[in-house]
Amino acid sequence: PVIYIPDDSGALALGAEKVAKAVQAELAARGVEAKIVRNGSRGAYFLEPMVEVETAESRVAYGPVSPKDVPALFDANFLAGGEHKLALGPTHKIPFLAKQTRLTFARCGIIDPLSLDDYRKHGGLAGLEKAVAMAPTDIVKTVTDSGLRGRGGAGFPTGIKWNTVLNAVAERKYIVCNADEGDSATFADRMIMEGDPFVLIEGMAIAGIATGATKGFVYIRSEYPHAVDKMRRAVDIARQGGVLGATVLGSPNAFDIEIRVGAGAYVCGEETSLLNSLEGKRGVVRAKPPLPAIQGLFGKPTVINNVISLASVPVILDKGAEHYKNFGMGRSRGTIPIQIAGNVKHGGLFEAAFGMTLGEIVDDVGGGTATGRPVKAVQVGGPLGAYFPRTLFDTPFDYEAFAAKDGLIGHAGITVFDDSADMLKMARFAMEFCAIESCGKCTPCRIGSTRGVETIDKIASGVQPKKNLELVTDLCNTMKFGSLCALGGFTPYPVMSAITHFPEDFKPHPVREAAE
Ligand code: NAI
Ligand code: SF4
Repeated sequence: PVIYIPDDSGALALGAEKVAKAVQAELAARGVEAKIVRNGSRGAYFLEPMVEVETAESRVAYGPVSPKDVPALFDANFLAGGEHKLALGPTHKIPFLAKQTRLTFARCGIIDPLSLDDYRKHGGLAGLEKAVAMAPTDIVKTVTDSGLRGRGGAGFPTGIKWNTVLNAVAERKYIVCNADEGDSATFADRMIMEGDPFVLIEGMAIAGIATGATKGFVYIRSEYPHAVDKMRRAVDIARQGGVLGATVLGSPNAFDIEIRVGAGAYVCGEETSLLNSLEGKRGVVRAKPPLPAIQGLFGKPTVINNVISLASVPVILDKGAEHYKNFGMGRSRGTIPIQIAGNVKHGGLFEAAFGMTLGEIVDDVGGGTATGRPVKAVQVGGPLGAYFPRTLFDTPFDYEAFAAKDGLIGHAGITVFDDSADMLKMARFAMEFCAIESCGKCTPCRIGSTRGVETIDKIASGVQPKKNLELVTDLCNTMKFGSLCALGGFTPYPVMSAITHFPEDFKPHPVREAAE
């Protein structure tokens, strides 16, 4: 039998390593032969560590498993899919997984992440095989026609970005993958790098062939040591397997990848700061223009895309632009890996076509709060995203629909809060976060964020609350329109949404004063 135990860092944080050791020990003690595959996570983190076994019909799952459950699982003959209180049935029928549309994450949690054979067997490299036989303009056209937009948060059309780089004339061009996933509640980039690293490598190679770039860099945040390790090993394996190198899949195209590790600054997820950091400089934001597509890494035309944008390209090339485009709504085409976190019962990654409402995601998929108390607010789009109250739960997950309600879907992270959340404190946190992470290049962000914290503190202690609320609103406008990058420019979203949707939390509060 084959046993699957994830070595995804989310599962490891929940004890997957100890479970693997316990299973190994039990196999030895009972003299049973079985192969243990360390897969990525399926993304249902509320069920991790989730152990699966291959049966004649399908894979069946058990979870969340702790080491002390292991002997009983063996007693229940789980290797043949036996009944046990932790049994979840066939994995693909677990409602959280069955309801998803997995295009980008189709293999994540299913295959052995570092087996190129397994990757091929599950449809891997089919997109790259097609790409090496295509003209660069046709590859770019396919990506444009698919409607794919940047999954890092800004939603800029990927094909148009690639086209700018394709048309730029230079002796050297680069593909840079932004894996500095810094948003709260987001883990999609990490999950795919750990669970299906070859799909990112394949996507980058296609981007290189499409635009004439022969070198790629993956810039991974230092907080992701497991992803760094997986990506490094996967790049080596891809080189040995002829996927990377002087002749990509035996074609005349050359493409290679280098893995670089960040040093922990949130602002290095901003593309120009990231480029500075890659060049060995301080991670300070550069003014745009010039766009990185024209003058990027080392001054050369550079495609800089988020992990999920690049990892979505292989399936587009393989199945065609129409197939991808048929999912979604409005101008938001394809699927998006929604990451549900915070105070929520069923936290995890849920890949779905654009268009589900926020309420469906939080209440139906997420199952409401973990505490069982009513949901008060959800923050969508990371620390710079807006707080949405229940009254906005009918908003469909779509770039334009969120923008119309003064929000953003960003990198699609959702943090759920119950009714004990104090939204004034959350607004203060946004300003404080901005003050700590500001690169210092422009005044509205560098000084505004610190003044923002002070002013919100005054409101909290009842010092001229009306005047100070007006001051915060004014300050937010200055930051929104006067900041050089999204850090200062988007901090007003959480602050203003908290003030707009939860005004009661900004009234002078004697209890709060006493507590402080
Ligand atoms: P932006 O709107 O300035 O740029 C979007 C992208 O399009 C950039 O790569 C830009 O270079 C490119 N672009 C624009 N016009 C182009 C053209 N004509 N040709 C080629 N490329 C072109 O947005 P920005 O500042 O890059 O990103 C802001 C977003 O980042 C926010 O929406 C936020 O949600 C997100 N974000 C994501 C985080 C994460 O962890 N993934 C963390 C923080 C923010
Ligand atoms: Fe730097 Fe903040 Fe200005 Fe962005 S908004 S350039 S982080 S000071």
